[in-house]
Amino acid sequence: MKEDLMRLKEEAIQAIDNLQNIDELNSLRVKILGKKGELTQILRGMASLSQEERPVIGKMANEIKDDLESKFSEKMQILKKALKEQKMQQEFVDVTIPTKISIGSKHPLTLVMDEIRDIFIGLGYEVVEGPEIELDYYNFEALNTPPDHPARDVQDTFYITENILLRTQTSPVQVRTMEKQKPPLKIIAPGRVYRSDAVDATHSPMFHQVEGLAVGEGFTMGDLKGTLVKFVQEMFGHDRKARFRPHFFPFTEPSAEMDISCIACAGKGCRICGYTGWLEILGCGMVHPNVLRNVGFDPEKVNGFAFGMGVERIAMLKYGINDLRLFFENDVRFLKQF
Ligand code: FA5
Ligand code: MG
Repeated sequence: MKEDLMRLKEEAIQAIDNLQNIDELNSLRVKILGKKGELTQILRGMASLSQEERPVIGKMANEIKDDLESKFSEKMQILKKALKEQKMQQEFVDVTIPTKISIGSKHPLTLVMDEIRDIFIGLGYEVVEGPEIELDYYNFEALNTPPDHPARDVQDTFYITENILLRTQTSPVQVRTMEKQKPPLKIIAPGRVYRSDAVDATHSPMFHQVEGLAVGEGFTMGDLKGTLVKFVQEMFGHDRKARFRPHFFPFTEPSAEMDISCIACAGKGCRICGYTGWLEILGCGMVHPNVLRNVGFDPEKVNGFAFGMGVERIAMLKYGINDLRLFFENDVRFLKQF
């Protein structure tokens, strides 16, 4: 029996030493020292011992039990400490590491729109908005463009129903504004417009315009030209060349288009400017009397000028971008540069 106890002790100590986790330790303790454990099993044999042997073995068994108990709790301390250290390691946060949060940046089109807005606010304009899904009436009819008007073909339109369409221009906001506000008024209206144009380096089926409208008394073409030249100088610097070409719009008379010298070729002629040296950025003119009549104004008393500029074209010129499609691909390597 002595040998049995000694063997039990030695084996237990070795097993405890080899243990790696708390669960295993707990079940080993039950297996050896528990009510139905190995030690109890051995002590069952006490009954067959002589009177003299019994206390000796009993003492020995108690000593072994105490030794093993302390061995178990010692190991428990070690394992608990190791577990705590492992947890600390896992949850470690180095608060001294410099934070490198990558912050997004504004899209180049947003930057340009913000700048256009600021320039015109500086000139006393108010910013208004209109719907992208528009009635035919506002997009064409009220703008002096009746159903049979050839100008309707120039801007290929996405129709939703016979009377509802995706606006092809921001000009309908002119009409919506004049229905609500009496002259004198000076507004700009930025926003998206849609045309079933074929996509190329300077055309997109969805693009942005900023509309401008000033209505009051005694405006001339000179006011329009002065305003737009001022805008070009603020936007591109005083050296940038601009030119006005006579043009036709149903809702202005006289009408013009304004070009800016091409940034890509410095006016020499290239693919972007169609080898002309110039890039068209806006249409403009004196508000047509019929448009004023349509909103109940008297063209004998008030008049005004209007313009509509292409934001993508302006952004291309501003940043020297040779393909408008880059604005819509959202490649971070492109967007990060602004
Ligand atoms: C118009 O849309 C007129 N509403 C402008 C206007 C307003 C004239 C007020 C008179 C008074 P136009 O179709 O030319 O005009 O377009 C205006 C500008 O939008 C162009 O100069 C060009 O810069 C830009 N643009 C036109 N089509 C596209 C396109 N598919 N993709 C990108 N930009 C375009
Ligand atoms: Mg045009």
